[in-house]
Amino acid sequence: MSTAPRTQVGIIGAGPAGLFLGQLLHRQDIENVIIDSRTRAEIEGTIRAGVLETWTTELMVELGLGERMRREGHFHSGISLQAGHERHHLDIEELTGGKKVTVYPQHEVLKDLIAARVASGQQTYFGVSGAAMHDLQAQPSLSFRPTTDGGTADSDTVRLHCDFVAGCDGSQSFSRQAIEGRTEYGKLYPFGWLGVLVKAPPSYHELIYANHERGFALLSTRSPEIQRLYIQCGPTDHLADYPDELIWRELQTRLATQDGWTLTEGEIFQKSLVGLRSFVTDPMQHGKLFIAGDAAHIVPPTGAKGLNLAVADAVYLYRGLEQWYAGGGRERLDDYSATCLRRIWRAERFSWYMTTMLHRNPEETPFEGRIHLADIDYTVHSRAASTALAENYVGLPLDA
Ligand code: DHB
Repeated sequence: MSTAPRTQVGIIGAGPAGLFLGQLLHRQDIENVIIDSRTRAEIEGTIRAGVLETWTTELMVELGLGERMRREGHFHSGISLQAGHERHHLDIEELTGGKKVTVYPQHEVLKDLIAARVASGQQTYFGVSGAAMHDLQAQPSLSFRPTTDGGTADSDTVRLHCDFVAGCDGSQSFSRQAIEGRTEYGKLYPFGWLGVLVKAPPSYHELIYANHERGFALLSTRSPEIQRLYIQCGPTDHLADYPDELIWRELQTRLATQDGWTLTEGEIFQKSLVGLRSFVTDPMQHGKLFIAGDAAHIVPPTGAKGLNLAVADAVYLYRGLEQWYAGGGRERLDDYSATCLRRIWRAERFSWYMTTMLHRNPEETPFEGRIHLADIDYTVHSRAASTALAENYVGLPLDA
């Protein structure tokens, strides 16, 4: 071991949970170091969902990260739900007393966070290998090799001592494994999403979530020149199964209306596949380790809750650490897992509900399929039901 640095909070993972936590701690002069096995370019280039809850946008502004979001984000007053050819507008802004739908994709949020972190001089190790955690009950430390292309001899290993460890290391988390006696809850859906990025102008002024007999489709946006679209696909499908013509045919069919609306096509320049699953681990802490974000929970993407949930964990963990370092004791840290899990389960419920209502599930009976259509019908025609969807869509309050 050549170096023996120290910090207050060692953070594993430079995704939304780790980076928001780092900025929140830094604002309170609590030292932290972030390590990640990915390079900065990999982190900034990973394409994820694009909707921010209202309080997440407010936190961005509060942390001085709001400028580009205000300029380049898309602010819609509603969303559309479509069943067959019938498209219905939900006026989210009116239903929530003024909250808008913000489309600003995750990798743009990460770019803003990383730029702010680098500018503030906080230490970040990208591209580390061999990361491990030690002595999480008494005197925690992290060990890792700083770069993958450097030497791998033992002398290159850094041992970082810290008061607490935040495991923000994503769905493939190794930090989660250290939580003994945890219970894991999970569900796999028998379908996935094929997502494409397209060079085309926007076809509609807001997001469209469509339940069609051929499967779900979603129309979203990225910029005046680039659009984001998804179709439901099989759980084991391959990209090779989807030539561009097939993707456009499915999108045109699933999003079609009978009122003269048209979907503008363009060059597909990026395609990706993702399986849909729900996952929660309980508890989210062990000794001086606290896990946050995808390390602790996964939601299916319908409704785009993943990033927002990760940021909520970061806020709750920050509040606990802030109380501790201000001499206020461990109460909030002890309550961390329970506080997070209340909000997580409500977001899991909403993401499951949106997914179930909007997809065609080959394992369900025709009866259940009709129930989902009735659910859409009820949601768009009942003020109570549309209000319930809207308040979840823009994000439940952090302190509810
Ligand atoms: C996007 C993704 C989602 O899962 C969603 O519900 C809305 C938008 C997107 O990538 O733009």
